[in-house]
Amino acid sequence: MNRTLVRLLRDKEQELRARDIAWRVTGVATRRLGWLADSEGFDTGLETGSISTPGRAGTPGLHNVREWLQAARADVLFEATSLNPQSGQPAIDHIRAALECGAHAITANKGPIVHAYDELCSLAATRGRRFLFESTVMDGVPIFSMFRDSLPTIHLQGFRGILNSTTNVILTGMEEGLSFQESLAKAQQIGVAETDASQDIDGWDAAVKVAALVIVLMGVHIQLHEIEREGIGNLAGEAVRAARAEGKPYKLICRAQRTERGVTASVRPEQVPLSDPLAWVAGTSSIVYFETDIFPALAITEHDPGLEATAYGMLADFVRAVTL
Ligand SMILES: NC(=O)c1ccc[n+]([C@@H]2O[C@H](COP(=O)([O-])OP(=O)(O)OC[C@H]3O[C@@H](n4cnc5c(N)ncnc54)[C@H](OP(=O)(O)O)[C@@H]3O)[C@@H](O)[C@H]2O)c1
Repeated sequence: MNRTLVRLLRDKEQELRARDIAWRVTGVATRRLGWLADSEGFDTGLETGSISTPGRAGTPGLHNVREWLQAARADVLFEATSLNPQSGQPAIDHIRAALECGAHAITANKGPIVHAYDELCSLAATRGRRFLFESTVMDGVPIFSMFRDSLPTIHLQGFRGILNSTTNVILTGMEEGLSFQESLAKAQQIGVAETDASQDIDGWDAAVKVAALVIVLMGVHIQLHEIEREGIGNLAGEAVRAARAEGKPYKLICRAQRTERGVTASVRPEQVPLSDPLAWVAGTSSIVYFETDIFPALAITEHDPGLEATAYGMLADFVRAVTL
């Protein structure tokens, strides 16, 4: 993800400069590369991932995230490790370290919102830094910032939508005659599947997104186990094609609704009539309908996003963090 972000930062260099924003990459870390830092900035190899010295993982002397952030003299951390729905780690530790070291923390990883939202928000406020996460739901589409900046005082009663691209690509592929495995391979090739694709197929990724929206936008601390969850693993190709032929295609539908006692939420395959716009959202596209006290149905649709859409959400958070 962050390689795409570097490409985008370069593409938008002129626009960023017009806002008085200059940047350089002073640290890179992955499991395979180790902790790499150069406070002067890395020039080459960032977009291909070939910046480390062959045969040597990491910059000597750097053993953990704090040492790495300090050596890089980081002002901003872009956290894009793989999702761990159960714990939100190691992303939470990375973000906590960044904020404590005086850097803004921007993440595409939903885990920290579900498992440490309050703690990270109050840490960010205490340190005068930003904790931003626009890319976690519907890629870079401005959902969190729209509610935060453009819909003051609004009350969100609930929402429904299609929020997981991998399962939508699989269902669309099966409708077109591909097998489950062929459709999954397509999602992996496009780059939308989670590192462990069972997290998409079993509905975990969608459930974490639902939890993130409920926690941030509805102010209710829902736990993952409170979200009714069923994946698409039990849907056979014939059933998927028959449902489409009868005009009620299967979609993995995410729902949340405010109740007197909190919020009820679910992720499960549902047959959707063709009169419902959700029935027409195919492939990597996604959609969400928000029900608010002012707008009864405020819909956001995202057609065919690429990886740069997610990277854009991080870039937009970067601009917000360093200019607001
Ligand atoms: N792809 C999308 O369309 C999309 C959209 C929205 C949000 N997201 C979120 O963005 C994040 C990244 O997605 P991705 O598709 O870029 O995933 P990815 O291709 O699997 O990349 C994950 C990166 O994190 C590194 N990593 C994983 N665990 C680590 C650890 N413990 N310490 C240090 N580095 C670690 C991996 O390093 P190694 O390769 O060296 O193991 C890899 O570079 C995920 O949380 C995902 O949910 C993705």
